[in-house]
Amino acid sequence: MPTPRGRVLLAAPRGFCAGVDRAIEIVERALEIHGAPVYVRKQIVHNEHVVRDLEERGAIFVDSETEVPEGAVCIFSAHGVSPQVRSNAAGRQLNVIDATCPLVSKVHQEAIRFARDERTLLLIGHADHEEIEGTYGEAPDRTVIVEDADQARRVELPEGTQAAFLTQTTLSVDDTSEIVNILRERFPGIVGAGSEDICYASQNRQNAIKAIAVESDFVLVIGSTNSSNSVRMVEVAEALGTPGRLLPSVEQLDPGWLEGVETVGVSSGASAPEELVEQVVARLAELGYGEVDSVVTAEENVVFRPPAGLERSKGERSGGASGGTSGATSGGTSGRDLSGTTKGLLTRVTARIEDLLAAERKQWGDVDSRMTQPIDAIAQLVSAGGKRLRPTFCISGYLAAGGGADGSEAEDAVVSAGAALELLHAFALIHDDVMDNSPTRRGRPTAHMQHAGIHAEQGWAGESRRYGEGVAVIAGDLAFGYAHTVTEDLPGPARKVWNHLGTEMIVGQQLDMALAAELAPDPDMARYVAVCKSGQYTIHRPLALGATIAGRDDLHAAFETYGVAAGEAFQLRDDLLDAFGDPEVTGKPAGLDLSEHKMNLLLALAATKDPEVARLVADGQNWDAERLRAAMLASGVREEVEKRIDELVETAHKALEKAPLAPGWRERLGEMAMQVAYRDR
Ligand code: IPE
Ligand code: IPE
Ligand code: MG
Ligand code: MG
Ligand code: MG
Repeated sequence: MPTPRGRVLLAAPRGFCAGVDRAIEIVERALEIHGAPVYVRKQIVHNEHVVRDLEERGAIFVDSETEVPEGAVCIFSAHGVSPQVRSNAAGRQLNVIDATCPLVSKVHQEAIRFARDERTLLLIGHADHEEIEGTYGEAPDRTVIVEDADQARRVELPEGTQAAFLTQTTLSVDDTSEIVNILRERFPGIVGAGSEDICYASQNRQNAIKAIAVESDFVLVIGSTNSSNSVRMVEVAEALGTPGRLLPSVEQLDPGWLEGVETVGVSSGASAPEELVEQVVARLAELGYGEVDSVVTAEENVVFRPPAGLERSKGERSGGASGGTSGATSGGTSGRDLSGTTKGLLTRVTARIEDLLAAERKQWGDVDSRMTQPIDAIAQLVSAGGKRLRPTFCISGYLAAGGGADGSEAEDAVVSAGAALELLHAFALIHDDVMDNSPTRRGRPTAHMQHAGIHAEQGWAGESRRYGEGVAVIAGDLAFGYAHTVTEDLPGPARKVWNHLGTEMIVGQQLDMALAAELAPDPDMARYVAVCKSGQYTIHRPLALGATIAGRDDLHAAFETYGVAAGEAFQLRDDLLDAFGDPEVTGKPAGLDLSEHKMNLLLALAATKDPEVARLVADGQNWDAERLRAAMLASGVREEVEKRIDELVETAHKALEKAPLAPGWRERLGEMAMQVAYRDR
């Protein structure tokens, strides 16, 4: 028995965070599925023990994707990669599996958004850290790295620059808030998420180490020297006046450090396995610190699932993962092939539409070739692409509700529903482009423009414009009819959801036109219109349709909260893309909403806030879209709408927290909300 010298204070939370857990599981699963070797770009997480262990099991760690043999499996580490790395990997046809922590991906999304808004990014973090290399790579031309307070005081931006800041996820909360304060003071219009980019795990581990540091004479943080969050933990303890050491492994523990020490604080960084902590605690016991007390400052129950295709089934998963699934999901599609199954069903949806249009074309073309023109207009629109959001949400609602891709009647019904939704959307778009006077859609001339052009070219009698619009009305009517034809085999409750969804969108469009005609700016009304004409038939109702087909009424409340919020975010983004997007990317015109005096949230808010905008809006006789655009921009409403989108995404995510969804779907639907809210097309 060693002579007792003192005690150990063990901090909690410590050790693995959800992102690290997920990244390691991804490598393990990739080895199981693909067999050794699998290549990992950079250390999967910054811990030498983890890396060595995975190496022994067949992982090969490389510094660059260019070292990976063509076509091989290549896993991106938890710290994230730049677009350049992704494109190099694509060039080598690598089978990429992305283990980037979702919280890092979120910062990438923010970088993309700020860059798109033409802001200069002040990226707070360590220039030589892989996470910063990755985030920097999203917008290298407009990003400046700020490593510390001193650099924050010295960084210079040209007069009039619009700035934003972002941070590495593993920084010290206190140091970062000092840096952010300096930046806010120097650049008053700067925007950013505050210290919120610092992840929950870094924050929790820093709070916990503070709690034990004040009661300890010395602290040990178990972690590797390149682990940013572990190094920060030592600094946090030292800032409170308690000396500390980073300890990569037990062999490096120098008993000399403990001279005169009574209480040793122990914690570990987010990438350090608990086994190392156990070894250190055992060694400390040998050195006379046998008494161990824990200090718990927070409970953590965050779990990030691996991407689709890699998830373990329920039985295989080791403890700890908060499943949140209900019995109703048994027999459903497992999360393992979640995106593959969605894609398979989407292919069937497109085939269903094409078959129907081909049969119609044949039937009427045999009578008179002129009758096929509106059918061809629909076919051209469908084949021009589009994001297929409505069928995707319908299929997702079905699979998330535990519906199976198992050759059942329900599976056929969801394919029909998906086809019906895309046809209804084609109807909505063709008519919308007439109402909105839009010349392009999905990168091509709109149906009414194309047929007005044909009319003019042929020198036919009458007004070309009216002829073109007439063809478009008929094409839309046909698409609407076809949409209903494919819903014939839907079960009763699903047909109810379906019938309501179409009407809701149509009357929403009437409201959209009326507000534009009356020049009535009203922010609450604008939000309602966004949801009614667009958000509902795009997200909430398709999800509800899918869940109804799967026989799951219990999901309606969660899908409604999620879908209404994500749907509004979708349409607000659409309005932002109209005002500020790139027509090359969106495939439709920019600035059309303003020239057509659409009273969307941007204009309604600007008119409420700024008397100059209100005056310009009221003067409908001399509508001046250019001046309005300038005044609207100056009023700062763009940021306000962006903020509203952020809040809506949060609401959508919250709605999923407790919903009893099939495995993997909470994460997938969470990602989908981000995709529709922060899209660029
Ligand atoms: C555009 O919808 C019409 C709106 C409801 C805003 P999408 O943005 O989904 O268009 P596609 O289907 O990808 O072309
Ligand atoms: C259209 O809203 C909603 C429907 C098509 C029902 P928008 O008029 O904003 O859609 P885009 O921008 O033309 O696609
Ligand atoms: Mg419209
Ligand atoms: Mg439109
Ligand atoms: Mg629009």
